[in-house]
Amino acid sequence: MKKVAIIGAGQVAEKVHAAYYLTRTADLELVAVVDPDEKRGADFATQNGFARSYVDAGTMFATEKPDLVSICTPNRFHFDNVMMALRHGAAVMCEKPPAMTANEAKMMRDFAAEKGLTLAYDFHHRFATDMTEVKRAYADGMLGEVYVTKAKALRRSGVPGWGSFTNKALQGGGPLIDIGIHMLDAAMYVLDFPKVKKVTAKMFQKIGTKKSEGTFGTWDPAKYDVEDAVFAFIEFENGGLLELETSFVLQMKDKAVLNVEFFGDEAGATLFPAEVYTDRAGELVTLLKRDVADEERHVKSMEAFVNRALGADVMVADAEQGYQIQRLIEAIYESAEKGESVYL
Ligand SMILES: NC(=O)c1ccc[n+]([C@@H]2O[C@H](COP(=O)([O-])OP(=O)(O)OC[C@H]3O[C@@H](n4cnc5c(N)ncnc54)[C@H](O)[C@@H]3O)[C@@H](O)[C@H]2O)c1
Repeated sequence: MKKVAIIGAGQVAEKVHAAYYLTRTADLELVAVVDPDEKRGADFATQNGFARSYVDAGTMFATEKPDLVSICTPNRFHFDNVMMALRHGAAVMCEKPPAMTANEAKMMRDFAAEKGLTLAYDFHHRFATDMTEVKRAYADGMLGEVYVTKAKALRRSGVPGWGSFTNKALQGGGPLIDIGIHMLDAAMYVLDFPKVKKVTAKMFQKIGTKKSEGTFGTWDPAKYDVEDAVFAFIEFENGGLLELETSFVLQMKDKAVLNVEFFGDEAGATLFPAEVYTDRAGELVTLLKRDVADEERHVKSMEAFVNRALGADVMVADAEQGYQIQRLIEAIYESAEKGESVYL
């Protein structure tokens, strides 16, 4: 039996990590949960089948010596907890984003490699069947040369009213580092992480600081110090362009958009649900179509991590890819803050 611990007893820890680990109790022993909020940690342990709770990660590692660890804290604490877990010899599943800075993500990558341990990130959209099908279509040449990609993670009125998602010091930013990062990873994964040449971005903070309620709950506009929306152009060395749009709150018609479109010289594709289309002899043609997007992405992401940690050769969102994504996030913020392009 391998021993499992979770650090950060919040909503993603419960709905995703603990929920999955509870399905694997034949080969996993759920030993401990860590949260500085003692009651929250204790209640979480009782309600989710974990044996004990701690308020301090160092004490937990020294006492329990877990083999697998999930890091589900606010972003600010990912780095320290991942490094501590690796130091104690544990395989790590860290929630997205990997860290607050590219340098942290690089140090995490290098330390995991030095220790020979699995470090995976929960970029769960990668694990949808839709993603597998579009990635295969791209790899098989069905789309031809993809020269433009558009990734969107947009909410019309979705400032999170829980957690610390409007607090820059704890999260590192707003929609870009929280939801835009998912579609950025999805796009980069399908495209096989092409080399980036230049990043140009603009961000806005127009609504979150003056309103206090939306469809995702209420917040304090006086404490809202993250961006509302980011628009970025990422130019690749191969000549391709990736356009990323992300927002917590943007006066658009749709309630939410979470998708990636690929435009190739042979065909185009969308991810959720997967569809590939073109035109032939003057007719519009559908080459591949799923009716409903796969919603088992989170379970499959957790399953891949556990299986990889147990020795299977399966795909995870790995430490190198996490670093590449964090580098792009940093470059986008840097470009938006400086008002000029950033060359990588
Ligand atoms: N993959 C996804 O789709 C997804 C979805 C939601 C959240 N997340 C990520 O998961 C993380 C947590 O988000 P959440 O929504 O569960 O937040 P949350 O606020 O519900 O939970 C965070 C928990 O961490 C605890 N905590 C704070 N500091 C800590 C520390 N130093 N050590 C241990 N615990 C600490 C808090 O007390 C709280 O219980 C964030 O990084 C977020 O980006 C990912």
